[in-house]
Amino acid sequence: MAKKITIRDLASAAGVSVTTVSQILNGKGNRFSKATQEKVLHLRDELGYVPDFNARNLILRSSKTIGVLVPNLNNPFFSTFIHGVDSTARKEGFIALVFGANHEEDLERFYLRQLMERSVDGFIIASASITAKTIDDLLKPWHAPYVLFDQNGNRAGDRLEVDDYQGGRQAAEYLAKMGHQKIVMLHPTNPTANVNNRLKGFTDGLHDAGIDFDPQQDIVSAELTKIGGYDQTDAVLAKHPTAVFSANDEMAIGLMRGLHEKGLSIPDDISVMGYDNIDFDEYVSPKLTTIEQPMHQIGEEATNMLIKRVQNPEMDLQTVHLPVKLVTRDSVKNLKK
Ligand code: RIB
Repeated sequence: MAKKITIRDLASAAGVSVTTVSQILNGKGNRFSKATQEKVLHLRDELGYVPDFNARNLILRSSKTIGVLVPNLNNPFFSTFIHGVDSTARKEGFIALVFGANHEEDLERFYLRQLMERSVDGFIIASASITAKTIDDLLKPWHAPYVLFDQNGNRAGDRLEVDDYQGGRQAAEYLAKMGHQKIVMLHPTNPTANVNNRLKGFTDGLHDAGIDFDPQQDIVSAELTKIGGYDQTDAVLAKHPTAVFSANDEMAIGLMRGLHEKGLSIPDDISVMGYDNIDFDEYVSPKLTTIEQPMHQIGEEATNMLIKRVQNPEMDLQTVHLPVKLVTRDSVKNLKK
């Protein structure tokens, strides 16, 4: 195997010191002549010099890397969120290592440990199945900061909150305005706190509109995926609703397929409303009415918050609140017309 070119090899080929090479390669070479800078950069490419990241980490005490853990990489909610993380991290000179843990607790623990052993500077953890306390116990010994979102349990730390309660309320108000009285909610089997806030807002909104909604009777539990929604088609229909509010778009899209397969027409026979506003909503038939979460912005804000904490561990606690909004399309029928 060819010998790896070191920074010393590069410095000696250029006839300058290791410090000079290091400064030029790190974009701090203004005090050297243009000719020296060009020579070093040219030799770097010609000799194929690639910095040794581990050695650099030891000197800078930073890997410039953040670990990101999400439950489901197939869900466009999380891929859009990751775009937000990625673009913000890059702007700040960081890169993100992203893993999907499929809601499996062992896998979540595995990735968190692996990321710690690779000396990431901090973590963004979304909708993990392990509790906030377990995450804290795991990460505390490493003194690595982390930002949680969509997580169970309270912890004293930086917080990123999306207005799930209002999202639930807005869905209820819209369905009530469209004349629906018999409504079912598709809710995840193991909901995180944010999704429960969605349910709370929905329940309160319906009650304020004078509509009966009993979570014990009017919820159908499903896995938070397309197949989860699809599999519960019969259970939903058994409750004879005029409308279904799904805790996320993926479940709603799965349910829509199930309803189509039963020969039902949406929204003429039954209305469906989702949550998230993933890009697929525009491509299903009919286009899905939903509550939008600012998925890209959630990724951006979480990353900004984490990097600020990495750079300044002693700063005051940060809290960011993000709004949601109703997006009306074609999947809810106006029963008042
Ligand atoms: O679609 C994924 C859902 O799980 C989102 O609504 C997000 O908020 C999470 O809870």
